[in-house]
Amino acid sequence: MSSDDDEGGEEYLFKIVIIGDSAVGKSNLLSRYARNEFNAHSKATIGVEFQTQNMDIDGKDVKAQIWDTAGQERFRAVTSAYYRGAVGALVVYDISRRSTFESVARWLDELKIHSDTTVARMLVGNKCDLESIRAVSVEEGRALAEKEGLFFMETSALDSTNVKTAFEMVIRDIY
Ligand code: GTP
Ligand code: MG
Repeated sequence: MSSDDDEGGEEYLFKIVIIGDSAVGKSNLLSRYARNEFNAHSKATIGVEFQTQNMDIDGKDVKAQIWDTAGQERFRAVTSAYYRGAVGALVVYDISRRSTFESVARWLDELKIHSDTTVARMLVGNKCDLESIRAVSVEEGRALAEKEGLFFMETSALDSTNVKTAFEMVIRDIY
């Protein structure tokens, strides 16, 4: 987090990271939030990408720099650099693939190891539009979040459900 004076107005910059297994929809959550775009055929992320999103909170100009990296180990950015300075995190799983939910504990461990600065964490069950092939119940998601002290939300990058709300809850909590 940094704060400085900019012609009398205050400006805040927050780094937020998105983590979770490959293909859970991390990149699409970010593109839906930042550009209102969804890609049904998106390729796996290689390395790291980020988007800066401006928000007005109580008259303050807040910039969230949201980082997205690969879920696949071999495509990932240098782990310590990815987490450095992050004050918020979205830990994402896919409600239609149980294995991605089971990986959450591992992602939380990694987050704990690499970021002592993280204040706001949210567990995100993405692809809630896939109700017909749901493999993780809402209750299970909520229970895990409660146990670990995270916010919880189910989202859909496809139909936009809760995407803005999820990011903005994390940003507001940091602020
Ligand atoms: P990596 O970069 O490999 O870590 O994957 P990722 O987590 O960034 O996943 P990505 O955003 O590339 O999405 C993977 C696939 O899931 C793509 O085919 C998306 O179109 C699809 N997808 C993403 N979000 C949703 C969603 O909310 N609903 C549905 N039905 N599909 C989604
Ligand atoms: Mg990606």
